[in-house]
Amino acid sequence: MAKKIVAGNWKMNLNLSEGSKLVEDILEGMPALSAETEVIIAPPCLHLTSIASLLADQQQVKVSAQNCHTDIKGAFTGEVSAAMLIQSGIGTTLIGHSERREYCNETDEILARKVNAALAAGMQIIFCCGEALEIRKNGTQNDWVHAQLQSGLFHLGAEAMKQVSIAYEPIWAIGTGETATTEQAQDMHSFIRRTLIDKYGQAVADNISLLYGGSCKPDNAAELFACKDVDGGLIGGASLKAEDFLKIIAASNAA
Ligand code: PGA
Repeated sequence: MAKKIVAGNWKMNLNLSEGSKLVEDILEGMPALSAETEVIIAPPCLHLTSIASLLADQQQVKVSAQNCHTDIKGAFTGEVSAAMLIQSGIGTTLIGHSERREYCNETDEILARKVNAALAAGMQIIFCCGEALEIRKNGTQNDWVHAQLQSGLFHLGAEAMKQVSIAYEPIWAIGTGETATTEQAQDMHSFIRRTLIDKYGQAVADNISLLYGGSCKPDNAAELFACKDVDGGLIGGASLKAEDFLKIIAASNAA
């Protein structure tokens, strides 16, 4: 059984006192989590260790970076390596978010190197994939996502895949208020699961958490999480408000 994960991607939002207050409010309202549920918070890099220290005694609430570099160290001004993150107690990172693919020109080849760097450092990965609107309109979204997985992840062996979760985030649904329908989400998630089964076998595929991202909100989380192959969510905007994020966590808990 794949773990259920609700991950909040804060992106470049909240100063440290706002972020700390949000974490306090989330912890205060947190329901008892079922054993297989994990909550993840991904604040901006600068705030990772401070936010992690607020969660130090939490077993099921973890902190994630939003990105890491392809290399362990070197002359890469402004960058942070997976080795540095793990040394600072940050055990998870997003890789391949569509905003980084688009604004930071992260190609599939670069992302595969980031995947390797994060795994070599001993981190867990949430690997993001998803198609733009024109791809969805011409009906080639499965091929598109398959190609992203093929280039970014499928060089990994089955053992390494145990450290990987996958977030399907259709770009046309991110921050737009437009969510994939439950049918669109389930169709893609089931396609990804079948692809994983073909590549790694049923046992490995069944243990990989598949998260949906893209305008997941309190009022649609329960129906998305009820889909057979949706194991949780990667939440942007709605993770910035304790009340909303807590409702989404409750929906995952109940799914
Ligand atoms: P959103 O963002 O929930 O604001 O659409 C999701 C994401 O980009 O991870």
